[in-house]
Amino acid sequence: MQADSIRAVVTGGVSGLGLAVATRIVADGGRVALFDVNDDKGAAAVAALGDDKARYFATDVTDEAAVAANMAAAKDFLNGLNMVVNCAGILGAGRVLGREGSMPLGRFQSTVMVNLVGSFNVAKAGAELMQHNDAGEDGERGVIVNTASVAAYEGQIGQAAYSASKGGVVGMTLPMARELSRFGIRVNTIAPGIFWTPMVDGMPDDVQQSLSASIPFPSRLGRPEEFADLVAYIAGNRYINGETIRLDGAVRLAPK
Ligand SMILES: NC(=O)c1ccc[n+]([C@@H]2O[C@H](COP(=O)([O-])OP(=O)(O)OC[C@H]3O[C@@H](n4cnc5c(N)ncnc54)[C@H](O)[C@@H]3O)[C@@H](O)[C@H]2O)c1
Repeated sequence: MQADSIRAVVTGGVSGLGLAVATRIVADGGRVALFDVNDDKGAAAVAALGDDKARYFATDVTDEAAVAANMAAAKDFLNGLNMVVNCAGILGAGRVLGREGSMPLGRFQSTVMVNLVGSFNVAKAGAELMQHNDAGEDGERGVIVNTASVAAYEGQIGQAAYSASKGGVVGMTLPMARELSRFGIRVNTIAPGIFWTPMVDGMPDDVQQSLSASIPFPSRLGRPEEFADLVAYIAGNRYINGETIRLDGAVRLAPK
């Protein structure tokens, strides 16, 4: 689809990778609705992007009714809806058998709820509206982009919950793409390596340096703009469908 015709809901859109995606879409002439649970950052993002191009909708991605209602409200604001980008996520780090005992089941569940169930919830609410769009070239009506992680494939010690949630996102990509093909809605997933975002920003310097050194080429953390660039490419290239694309400088995470 044409970059300036993009009308997108971006979850996690007020921070890190999601904010970079929203910034890119607006820079290309599109409009965005930001679904997040951080009101302060939401206000800052809208101020930066312009309130005629962007609106914040306080939305917990795990809430089925709220997502459905805000998806409809977002479509009104955007004057259409043809893209959904799932970037909301939490780390949910913790060992299965930690010093304080085994991982509370609630931590595993909340990680899977936000990262996997939340992505599904937003994708299905978006698809429900996008199926009624007028068909564009090749019958296209919309595109969904999810965010997994390379931890879906080589999760580290302490990432059992996170990796399980992201593996689920990779797993649902193809069946969803197959099913939604009859509506002309594509579904793809990006599996980022290690990107420079608030999620990583809080880590100590030596950890950041050793992370950078572990990345073959380029030997640095990924830039959120590079993630946004791939989202924009996926939006523009209709033949990319049902795929998970690693974006990682060839990194393969070590056990710890
Ligand atoms: N930064 C990385 O290196 C990296 C690597 C691989 C995958 N990822 C994935 O990319 C995505 C974005 O990560 P980021 O680094 O930009 O993190 P971030 O913390 O900067 O942004 C995540 C956003 O999600 C929001 N969020 C959390 N729970 C939510 C909920 N229940 N409902 C709505 N919004 C919620 C947060 O408020 C935050 O604004 C995540 O899914 C993350 O797992 C990041």
